[in-house]
Amino acid sequence: MARTLSALGLAGALLATAVAVPTSQAAAHDDRSRPVAGDRPLVIAHRGASGYRPEHTLEAYRLAIRMGVDFIEPDLVSTRDGVLVARHENEISGTTDVAVHPEFAARRTTKTIDGTAVTGWFTEDFTLAELKTLRAKERLPQVRVTNTAFDGQLPVPTLQEVIDLARSESRRLGRTIGIYPETKHPTYFRSIGLPLEEPLVRVLKKNGMTDKKDPVIIQSFETANLRKLNRMTDVRLAQLLDAAGRPYDFAVAGDPRTYVDLVKPENLRWIDSYADGIGVNKNLLVPRDASGKLLAPTAVVRDAHRTGLVVHAWTFRAENQFLPVDFRIGTDPNARGDIIAEYQLFYGLGLDGVFSDHPDTAVAARAGLS
Ligand code: G3P
Ligand code: CA
Repeated sequence: MARTLSALGLAGALLATAVAVPTSQAAAHDDRSRPVAGDRPLVIAHRGASGYRPEHTLEAYRLAIRMGVDFIEPDLVSTRDGVLVARHENEISGTTDVAVHPEFAARRTTKTIDGTAVTGWFTEDFTLAELKTLRAKERLPQVRVTNTAFDGQLPVPTLQEVIDLARSESRRLGRTIGIYPETKHPTYFRSIGLPLEEPLVRVLKKNGMTDKKDPVIIQSFETANLRKLNRMTDVRLAQLLDAAGRPYDFAVAGDPRTYVDLVKPENLRWIDSYADGIGVNKNLLVPRDASGKLLAPTAVVRDAHRTGLVVHAWTFRAENQFLPVDFRIGTDPNARGDIIAEYQLFYGLGLDGVFSDHPDTAVAARAGLS
């Protein structure tokens, strides 16, 4: 069912959605959970405005800022010379043109990353200077066809370049744009002598980001490196929680807990001992049945807020194939569905932020809350 941007009132949205939101859950939100953007959910540009530009490029981040986001999200991996760069994976054939560079052909190899065999080219085998000769390409060319117009044009940015952009745009616009860096494969990178945490804290410190009030939140799917970061810096930390599987550091340490275990109140209290928030797969907040239809919301937002943790959810994407059946429009999996209705549902749960590939839609839906 299509809905217009003019019909974004929250009450109307909740009436219109198929899922009833218990009022006790919506009321569970407290003021501690809105740390930067005031009394409204944060909009976090997931890998930049990655629905419109190849992900993790300065153009993707710049567009997201223009769309009104509060934070831009660089996933971080390391180069051979220890520089942190923005990529979702350390294997870069899916998002760069490395495969058509004959000078790097011999670097194609197979490695075991977090217990899985991966074949391709890896950032840790390239110096920053070498990586800078590559150009980004669209990860989902069949889905986001227009984004491929930017293939081959945009370099891989460093963390410092992402910070520079956020700061210069903050000054230009007169509002604060935060960064939300994620450490990718931290156990693996430490095992090869290229730990992520020390250079990350060093770069943040160099840029004056050392405190909880600073516009930075560090996230990780692993727990051990966040606990270590909690001893290294006072900036805010977010524990990422998926809807399946378990943290890789748990697998290494023999800790049997899964991500699903970690949203239980006793484990949320444990997370609260080292982190400020959780970044959750949105299916942990509103599960789907086997056919992709929404089920009733869980108590995770309420339980996390009672513990004192903020809740940010991922990933909001406008195309039908990523939406619950309830919000799809038509049968083309690559066409846009009713993403606004999805935000209305999740904002109605009282969560504190959303990671979105299409941040303009998250900002538009948020405007309907006021
Ligand atoms: O970090 C939040 C979200 O980005 C986690 O998923 O795989 O896109 O990094 P991923
Ligand atoms: Ca991420």
